Amino acid sequence: MKKYMLFASLSLFSFSGVLIASEIPEGMGVLPTQPAIPADNPMTAQKIELGKKLYFEPAISKSGHFSCNSCHNLATWGVDNQVFSIGHKWQRGGRNAPTVLNSGFWSKQFWDGRAASLEEQAKGPPLNPVEMAADSEGFVVTRLKNAGYEPLFNNVFGKNSVSFDNMAKAIAAFERTLITPNAPFDLFVEGKGDISKAAKRGMKKVSDIGCTSCHAGPLFTNNEFVAFQYGQDLGLKSVTGKDEDDHVFRVQSWRNIAMTAPYFNDGSVKTLSEAVKIMAKIQLDTDLSASDVSDIVAFLDTLTGDAPKVVLPLLPRPTGHALDWQE
Ligand code: HEC
Ligand code: HEC
Repeated sequence: MKKYMLFASLSLFSFSGVLIASEIPEGMGVLPTQPAIPADNPMTAQKIELGKKLYFEPAISKSGHFSCNSCHNLATWGVDNQVFSIGHKWQRGGRNAPTVLNSGFWSKQFWDGRAASLEEQAKGPPLNPVEMAADSEGFVVTRLKNAGYEPLFNNVFGKNSVSFDNMAKAIAAFERTLITPNAPFDLFVEGKGDISKAAKRGMKKVSDIGCTSCHAGPLFTNNEFVAFQYGQDLGLKSVTGKDEDDHVFRVQSWRNIAMTAPYFNDGSVKTLSEAVKIMAKIQLDTDLSASDVSDIVAFLDTLTGDAPKVVLPLLPRPTGHALDWQE
């Protein structure tokens, strides 16, 4: 009797393809193709191209050395793989650099969410004294003009439009193109590929023990802010001063997580398996076995998508003389 039922259900599933769908825990799914685009910053091909130049533009920094790409290197999955990034005069900041890949999908930017949008975020690093250290917005605008950006801005934003705000808008438009589709997990969901048995066990495990209550949906984050009682960083409390925000950070996405070590807001954890173990202990009070950890890591490995193919842009420069880099 048992044998018969097993046979019947197996054949039913494999004929209809339900077998695959039924294996995938509820909520998980394919990476969306595009993030929401704000009404006041529509995407155009010219704006994206300008944003790409500005993303690679070291002239935004005081020394003429640091670009967004210095710390969010698009050749290494939008990160620098440092514990803390190196900025102006070899200074290091106090937080690990998260990836810019898929950042258009996050509810708010930075580990503590202190920037409401990519546009707002992009205005931070140029003036941050340990990052790009420009003296003022005006300093950046003058640099961009001296480098030869006026016609490029005017094409996109209209006459006399070189401004700090428009720089941020163009960069944000470019960032919204940095999506990583076709991860093995996505192809599996679409019925176009398979993932290993270990990865399937890991997929079920993260759902069964509750990781996906926070790392939820196709982005593997519910985009919310929760307490993570680990390390010295006070998270959102350092912005609001409120006790209820102590150690509160955005739930990080698992997309491309295998490529963005080291882990956590303080970059203190070198391996993904260690990060998984710590998460289970702190967030779920669960001690995972070594085989559970390796299954979960096998699953997380299937979330690495296709990195965006970015053709290195040529930046405007004055002919025959250098720009005024400063100490
Ligand atoms: C010197 C290194 C450095 C430079 C240069 C830099 N960043 Fe960052 N970036 C960081 C660090 C560190 C953080 C995290 C800071 C925090 O959360 O407090 C960050 C956070 C971000 C985030 C938020 C991602 C998330 O998951 O919340 C985005 C987006 C971003 N940077 C884009 C940019 C852009 C655009 C530029 C250029 C205008 C830039 N960065 C320049 C180091 C850098
Ligand atoms: C209560 C919500 C919650 C639960 C449950 C949870 N996480 Fe997290 N996770 C977070 C938050 C918040 C962060 C950001 C931590 C930080 O600021 O360093 C994070 C970060 C991570 C990171 C590191 C991301 C990075 O870019 O450095 C990994 C890996 C991770 N979680 C895996 C898991 C796994 C595996 C489970 C289940 C065993 C799990 N998480 C359960 C909230 C949660």
